[in-house]
Amino acid sequence: QEFEIKWEDFTILEDQKLGEGAFGIVFKGQLAGHSNTDNIAVKTTKPKVDRSILLALMSELKVMIHLEMHENIVQLLGACTEFLREGRVYVLVEYCPLGSLDLHLRTTVRTKLDNLVSINEQTITNQEIPGTIDSLSGNVFVNWAVQIARGMQHLESKRVIHGDLATRNVLLYSENHVKITDFGLSRQLLNYDNYVKQSQTKLPWRWLAIETLSRPKFASEEIYKVMMRCWEFDPEMRPDFKHIEDVLRTLFQFPS
Ligand code: ADE
Repeated sequence: QEFEIKWEDFTILEDQKLGEGAFGIVFKGQLAGHSNTDNIAVKTTKPKVDRSILLALMSELKVMIHLEMHENIVQLLGACTEFLREGRVYVLVEYCPLGSLDLHLRTTVRTKLDNLVSINEQTITNQEIPGTIDSLSGNVFVNWAVQIARGMQHLESKRVIHGDLATRNVLLYSENHVKITDFGLSRQLLNYDNYVKQSQTKLPWRWLAIETLSRPKFASEEIYKVMMRCWEFDPEMRPDFKHIEDVLRTLFQFPS
């Protein structure tokens, strides 16, 4: 009740799609009485989806209500459930103008990195690269990682399992401010096609021995140690997000 928003009180900009999965779709929108610059994001299901898909979006909505506010979690603004019987639900969340972190990494950051590597190819070692990136972009990677760890601590405190933490589910509110999105039970269904077609890597990793997933080029030994701890078979042996935040801050002398 508290979050219900009437159909007349918002508009969906159908020509401005922000994201799309097999069953779900996110449009840019606007709240009535707000200026054009006050955009929102409206998540809904594609037409004529199975009832289970609709219920999945409803359960994502419940998770978002339960989560309350956190600066590193995409904020729920409300929901329009008046057409639930006809098979339509709209979840309204804050708009993050710079889009998803994965796209940002593949475009903006990729270009910066490529330039950096080609300039320095002969002179720097892998160990030195993170420092060079830092000086170029003001520690942005660590800043993002720390914020993601903080958002995840909030989920931990609310006993919510994200289950699909990936850069495609992290949005940039601004260059220095990231927010986690797309959590709750719905992610398996709504993002189904991420698992089907989005295999970026050429590696047949499902069929590879674990030791072939070698340390990424830009990860230092210390970072790789943290990564390996996250892959411990026994969940009790994995670090929690507070620990990850602390490690990042210590390694990169990042102020709190
Ligand atoms: N894509 C998916 N959700 C979004 C949001 N809240 N803001 C901007 N782009 C998005």
